[in-house]
Amino acid sequence: MLTLRNLAKTYANGVRALEGFSLSLAPGEIVAVIGGSGCGKSTLLRLISGLESPSHGTVELDGERVTKPHPLINLIFQEPRLLPWLSVANNVGFGLAELDGDDRRRRVEAALQKVGLEQFGGRWPKELSGGQAQRVAIARALVTRPEVLLLDEPFSALDAFTRADLQDHLLDIWSETRPTLVLVTHDIDEALVLADRIIVMRPWPGRILDEIRIDLPRKRDRAAASFEAAKRQLLASLNRSLQPS
Ligand SMILES: Nc1ncnc2c1ncn2[C@@H]1O[C@H](COP(=O)(O)OP(=O)(O)OP(=O)(O)O)[C@@H](O)[C@H]1O
Ligand SMILES: [Mg+2]
Repeated sequence: MLTLRNLAKTYANGVRALEGFSLSLAPGEIVAVIGGSGCGKSTLLRLISGLESPSHGTVELDGERVTKPHPLINLIFQEPRLLPWLSVANNVGFGLAELDGDDRRRRVEAALQKVGLEQFGGRWPKELSGGQAQRVAIARALVTRPEVLLLDEPFSALDAFTRADLQDHLLDIWSETRPTLVLVTHDIDEALVLADRIIVMRPWPGRILDEIRIDLPRKRDRAAASFEAAKRQLLASLNRSLQPS
């Protein structure tokens, strides 16, 4: 269980990036966070990941305070951030240094297979397309079997076809070990396709405006009337989030 209690972050320049943010996430839950630019979404993920400390409040994973980067919490960024001097396989295996060679190789192969890149282990990052590189980043983040995976607009740099494909890959992989996912996205359909709950934020100070539960079974049909209804509800909430307070 990931518990965020009354999280707040005010930066040194006085910007109130986050205030009074409380949320409990069950194991295996997928929560999407959506809201206008500057409403504190990336700040929220950096606080959960332990990369940055809150001004107030706490992050707890299974009752234990998170105060620095945690081995069971991984973060995927908008761009893949692969290490250019390592092969694809060694990028994926980077966090498995404690395993012996054979175990490590098996885990890396299985992870690459899950993202459809089993033939790519020997390539260099610069030989990959944007979508392939992001798939490697997903494999790298999941190979260590984290309890929590944080994704900051992971597919926003990709075309619509590649994005839909990677959303499917992400769900496939998630269904195996079922980590808790926190997905920051600007893409309304992406939130509706993936999330159990959608948190709508508003800025200055960054805070929760609304929480929308999506009870549709997966894999979700974007053309279904129930999907459209959920979309209308989300759009109405997003409109409210953009009104002046
Ligand atoms: N290191 C920092 N120092 C000072 N202010 C910051 C810092 N990082 C972010 N901010 C400010 O905090 C607020 C929240 O920023 P954050 O990056 O969390 O927003 P975001 O919701 O991720 O936006 P976007 O959708 O554009 O990525 C913004 O007003 C931003 O300018
Ligand atoms: Mg951001």
